[in-house]
Amino acid sequence: MKKKIALIFGVTGQDGSYLTELLLKKKYIVHGVKRRSSLINTSRVDKFFYNNKQFKMHYGDVTDTASIFTLIKRIKPDEIYNLAAQSHVKVSFEIPLYTADVDALGSLRILEAIKLTNKKIKYYQASSSEMFGNSGKKIQDEKTKFNPQSVYGISKVFSFFVTKNYREAYSMYACNGILFNHESSRRGETFVTKKIVQGLVNIKKGKQKKLILGNLYSIRDWGHAKDFVFAMWKIMQMKKPDDYVISTNKQFSVKKFTELVAKKLDMKIIWKGKGLNEKGFVKNKEIISVNKKYFRPTDVNQLRGNFRKAKKQLKWTPKHDINYLIDEMLEIT
Ligand code: NAP
Ligand code: GDD
Repeated sequence: MKKKIALIFGVTGQDGSYLTELLLKKKYIVHGVKRRSSLINTSRVDKFFYNNKQFKMHYGDVTDTASIFTLIKRIKPDEIYNLAAQSHVKVSFEIPLYTADVDALGSLRILEAIKLTNKKIKYYQASSSEMFGNSGKKIQDEKTKFNPQSVYGISKVFSFFVTKNYREAYSMYACNGILFNHESSRRGETFVTKKIVQGLVNIKKGKQKKLILGNLYSIRDWGHAKDFVFAMWKIMQMKKPDDYVISTNKQFSVKKFTELVAKKLDMKIIWKGKGLNEKGFVKNKEIISVNKKYFRPTDVNQLRGNFRKAKKQLKWTPKHDINYLIDEMLEIT
């Protein structure tokens, strides 16, 4: 039987590396798109697939329409996963136009290339719970109204609707995974979970004095990236394309996450003070403080996803809980 061919935009990221691993196990030929950078930025994939003949990398960029067309024409993929994004919400306040170019127009460029090249190619869009923003609902699902709080979230809303529109207007297999936060040992260092794990481990080893955070009271629904890329693949194997919330339906604050990590490192945190003066002490030594530079002009207060539709239709449930996530992150930090 002919092997399926997948093309992944954003292959060098956290999810790109787990998805590559999964698709190679499923006997796909995987093509990944990497960006040119002055230092090597492919460590997440080089480490695992460098010598794998079923895995190939190409230069490209979702801001470069010609490269997208060229790659699709040359590779002739069965499935395209668009994971490419300026994925940091806080950074989207600092580089909003670039963020919109990549996160909103990037998806449209790929969809348009599929439409003009071969409408049978399946398309996965990496949509995000940030689209819900401050929705006013305690639990969010596919029917919850979007109220994004950043250019990142707004750009993802554009991509969500453009994906749905190409599905409806051109009968394309175009679908959205609305993924809630998912983490792993491969998570980028500036996302809060990795920053906390790395910071506390360094403090424990005496390599770092303090961990400086922003909004400790923000609440997220954190899953494991391994489970979430499996959901991406399942979304692409359905008879009909559709949109699905992928989450754990459990939530924790940034403060609670910090305490859970500290506990596993035998560090008991005593909190003192309030607001920007709140500090965390271990054995009377100040190890955590708050700085307004890590706050966003507008933040999403709380996220908790209802994955009932995915459970029913995709037969998907998360396999790893927050304890597994923290243990794995600690083991590989
Ligand atoms: P990530 O680690 O930041 O990876 C993003 C990927 O996009 C990287 O490979 C990056 O390349 C690439 N990229 C950035 N700009 C690009 C451009 N102009 N052209 C081509 N590629 C570009 O993010 P992730 O956590 O794996 O997330 C994957 C996708 O899911 C993203 O779209 C993100 O917005 C979305 N998402 C993530 C979560 C989550 O909690 N992780 C939840 C919901 C949705 P470099 O390596 O060169 O930077
Ligand atoms: N990054 C960061 N750094 N966030 C902090 C810090 C800090 O020092 N202190 C508190 N936070 C709070 C943020 O204000 C936010 O409310 C929460 O921790 C989570 O921040 P991030 O880990 O940066 O993730 P995010 O929720 O903003 O975005 C991630 O999840 C989205 C899905 O909901 C990213 O992966 C997005 O790409 C993804 O779409």
